[in-house]
Formats: sequence, C-alpha cells, structure tokens
Amino acid sequence: MSAWAVVEKRRGRYPIGRPSVGADAAELAEIRIRCMGCGAPHAAGVAVTVCPRCGGLLDVEVSLDAKIRPEEIGQGLSPTLRNSGVWRYRALLPAIPESAIVTRAEGNTPLFWDDRLAQYAGLTAEAGGFGVKHEGHNPTASFKDRGMTVGVSHAKAIGARIVACASTGNTSASLASYAAAAGMAGLVLIPEGKISGGKLGQTIAYGARVVQVQGDFDEALALLRELTASHEVYLCNSVNPFRMEGQKTIVFELLEQLGWNAPDVIALPGGNLGNTAAVGKALHEAYTVGLIDRVPRVATIQAEGAAPFAAYFASGWDEYAPVHAETIATAINIGNPASTPRARRTIEQTGGIVTTVTDAEIMDAKAAIDRVGIGCEPASAASLAGTRRLVAEGVIAPDATVVGIVTGHLLKDTESVVAYHLGDNAAPGANRPVTIPATLAALEQVLADALHG
Ligand code: F0G
Repeated sequence: MSAWAVVEKRRGRYPIGRPSVGADAAELAEIRIRCMGCGAPHAAGVAVTVCPRCGGLLDVEVSLDAKIRPEEIGQGLSPTLRNSGVWRYRALLPAIPESAIVTRAEGNTPLFWDDRLAQYAGLTAEAGGFGVKHEGHNPTASFKDRGMTVGVSHAKAIGARIVACASTGNTSASLASYAAAAGMAGLVLIPEGKISGGKLGQTIAYGARVVQVQGDFDEALALLRELTASHEVYLCNSVNPFRMEGQKTIVFELLEQLGWNAPDVIALPGGNLGNTAAVGKALHEAYTVGLIDRVPRVATIQAEGAAPFAAYFASGWDEYAPVHAETIATAINIGNPASTPRARRTIEQTGGIVTTVTDAEIMDAKAAIDRVGIGCEPASAASLAGTRRLVAEGVIAPDATVVGIVTGHLLKDTESVVAYHLGDNAAPGANRPVTIPATLAALEQVLADALHG
C-alpha cells in the first residue's frame, strides 16, 4: 500500500505513528521535549510540533550537565555520523537511534574571509573582519539540509510515511531530497509563482508531490498546519523542534572553525525565524557546556518589505503585528514568522539586534559577495547588507569580528542575477555579456575594449 493510501485509511487519528521503524520506544524515551510557553514536558515518540496544551513552541532538551571538551567532539561515532557536519555534534543533539538516521554528509561548509567584504561592511579587516559561513555548500545548496537530516530522521524513527512542509523554496528542495533518501513520500506546499525556478526544479526532480497554493507562504503554512493536525502527515517546517536541533550545528561548526573563539557578532537573514531561534539555542548550549567563554550578539536582518520581527523589536517587544510581505528576496518573503517567540529569546539572551535592509541594499550586497567569487542567493546577502548598515549606524564597532551566515547558493536564484545584470533596470556596474560574430577580429576588439575600458 502506498504511503498516501495509508494516510487516507488512518485519517483523523492524531498524533501520528508509533515508535516502530528502526527505533524502539525506550530509545526515543531518552529524548525530552518541553513547551517554551507553559513548560509542559512531551514525549518524543510521536509527532508534535506545538504544545497540545497551550499551542506554544517546543524545544528539545539536550543534556547540558557535563562539560564538553573540544577534542571530545565526534569521538566514538561511526564514520557515517562523523562525516556529517550535523551528526558529529551528536553530544548536543537528540538521541535518535543511528538506525533511523537519514544523512547525506550535510554541513561541513566553509568559512571564508575576504578583506573586500570586510571593507564593504565598513569593518577594519586587520582587527576583525567579515567571515562568510557558506551554507550554500550543503547537499541541496542551502542551510536547510542541517535541520532536515534531524527532522526526517525523527520522522523515520517514529514510523512516519509522509513528511511535509510549506516553503519559499529551499525547505521544499531539502525536504524532497531527504524524503527520497529515506524512501518516504514528500509533500510540499509552495506559494504559486513566488519561488525561484532553481528551487522548484530541485523539488520536482527529487520527486516530492508539489502543491502550488494560490496565496502566500504564510497562508500555505497555515493550511499545512491544519492538515497535519488531523492527518498522519509529519510536519517538517522549522516549528518542528527537531529541525531546529540540526540547524544549531551551523553555530557549532563555525565556532569550531574559529578554534572555539566566538566572534563578536553573528549576522543572519530572518524569514520564518527558525534559524535565529536555532542560533540562539546553539550559543546557549555551547556556552553552558564550556565550549565557548562568551556569547556573541546575534543580528537578525529582515528585508524591509517583510519585517514584522524588526518592528516587534523596535517596539521594545511590545507590539507584534503580521504584515503582508513583499521583497525581492523570495526566500524570506514571510509576513508572520512561525518561530517569533523563540527568535525573541535569542535576541534577548545574546543582547542581539534586529534590523532591516532594502531590496536594493540586499542586491548590492549580493553583487559584492558574488563579485569576490563566493556568490549567494539574494536572501543570504541580507547578512552582509545588515552588517554594513549596523556598522554605519555605530551599532557594530568597526573593529568587530562578524560572521555572516550565507544561507543559500548563487545558483538557487539565477533569475535575480539576470535581472540585476541584464534587465531593463540593470544596476550600475552590471556585467553585461557582449555578443560578437565568430571572427578573431571581433574577439580582439573585445580584448582591446577590456584592456582600455
Ligand atoms: N535564507 C534562505 C536562503 C532561506 O531559504 C530562508 C528561509 C532564510 C534565509 C530564512 O531563514 O526562515 O529560518 O528565518 N527559507 C524557508 C524556506 C522559509 O521555506 O525555504 P528562517
């Protein structure tokens, strides 16, 4: 019987699954989940993504009782887990049995330093600088794979047959890939016409069932949450606490790359705010187990047209209001971020900051990252654009060390590259191709123009 048929048959029974495939209840019983709202504990043997009592967001609690020394990281693991830039931090992840783990050696992403980007941000590279933690180097070319390996592994551990998400494109590509790896069915809801061709192409190719919703991301997510509340479909959006666990490893890995010397600031784009939440949780845990001796400030950067969290921050956490989102950075075109309370916790705990940048600032920062040969998709460049703004405003000191989380690969969104460089409103400094007849003389002319131009 196909996964879809099983779901139809069991319709209306919630929560899904019994601990079965590859795991037994005793192993999952070690995992503790707690509601950040009312503090109620929940079992990990079933799929719950919000507190059944109060509707609050859930956290996986990992044991922080013992100190962890850097050299202990990755010790005693199988080669498969050690090769994953997520699972090698198993000591700080939920104890999902290895037999259920679905991994594609995700993570292991580079940290680049380039003085030209530091200069662009207004940072004095001698003293600090701007590091690019390039999450586009993941298997499906965005940071989403880190959370997805944990989310899909938990789904497998509890015997789920269908994993699902609403997405602006990257989560859907990642979910489709990991569902395929796990032999599960993938269901994705995307806002029709609002995700890039590259991301849509990945999702289709990996074999997920793609549903284009006539609405925006926020509507698609609300719709899916309604479905998963009454059907045996495992919700793999970042409200799922297991997704967040995997995303924490961006921070563990970058701290390890820095020899466990924390930077002054970690800057990242904010959309649905799962990543901001995960970064804060990771920093708290790394500090508590003694891996770092100070906690960097987290700077969450939103696009001006999709900035309800920035407005909430600016109100002194007094007034939160969803917005109708509109930004060129389609990945973060989100008006009612699901992880808002958790993300607020991150900003409060780290003395962090939330700011906005315009679409033009995002595209110019993207061009700067592209032009040094690193490259990224538009949303990712918010980390550099936001850093530049915060340095100019005096919020970040010029001699600070900032690491920007660059969340997705340049090839995720080639439409934006074409529009920036070739479109009718191409930017100054656009890199337009020239077209020539197939003659040496014409090619020599191009060379001469380049040399003298
Ligand atoms: N950058 C990229 C490239 C993204 O795809 C996303 C989110 C973000 C930043 C923001 O991260 O939501 O944790 O605050 N993309 C989701 C998706 C919403 O469906 O792919 P966040």
